[in-house]
Amino acid sequence: MRRPWVVGVSGASGTPYAAAVLRGLLDAGSPVDLVISRAARLTLLDETGRPFRDAHWKDDLAGWLGRDLAGADLAYWPAGDLAAAPSSGSYPVCGMVVVPASTAACAGIAIGLSKDLLQRAAEVNLKERRPLVVVPRETPVTRSHLEHLIALHDAGAVVLPASPGFYGAGADASAGQLVDFVAGKVLDALGVPHTLFRRWTGDLGAARDRADRPE
Ligand SMILES: Cc1cc2nc3c(=O)[nH]c(=O)nc-3n(C[C@H](O)[C@H](O)[C@H](O)COP(=O)(O)O)c2cc1C
Repeated sequence: MRRPWVVGVSGASGTPYAAAVLRGLLDAGSPVDLVISRAARLTLLDETGRPFRDAHWKDDLAGWLGRDLAGADLAYWPAGDLAAAPSSGSYPVCGMVVVPASTAACAGIAIGLSKDLLQRAAEVNLKERRPLVVVPRETPVTRSHLEHLIALHDAGAVVLPASPGFYGAGADASAGQLVDFVAGKVLDALGVPHTLFRRWTGDLGAARDRADRPE
């Protein structure tokens, strides 16, 4: 039985994070169901210059991810389609990631608003006790943003802020490496294998000698 990961892309800045997670899932051979909010089309346009159109979703996605999707196990559901398969707990999925997650999406999922398919599908994963990872991208944050994230955490979601670490890649880390760091942490949370970043081994190497050297 096909059991995809649902990837919800909401309208926060950070479409490169979504692209890296999607590529990682496809590289791992995972089936993917994609939902892109109306606002995410604006951030995608702003950040990549690319449109995302329901009628041309596969071509637009291939252009965005920069790869041929001919053999990929992919489904796409329009965000306005509240009758789409991921809106029901009876549709078998592994779980869901919302990447990037807007403050609006976090709020909507936290309070069960279900204003579109993305929010409904996320809520379904919570109620079915399936994995849900949300990747908020906003700064600074208000008290209500924090309260919604706590509510999501308490409901069983993994709150995984788009907060790249610089270890491994070093001071000259490229934007791509920082994006891959966050995407790799998402794939770790989903239990999907990847090689997007170098894992910490505890070995500081020559840097430890310099740090330990007396002044
Ligand atoms: C270019 C652009 C960048 C945005 N960046 C963010 C952001 O980083 N974080 C955020 O929470 N909202 C951001 N927003 C606002 C959201 O798009 C807005 O709250 C929208 O209602 C979210 O809807 P959605 O959750 O249905 O996608 C941005 C909007 C635009 C147009």
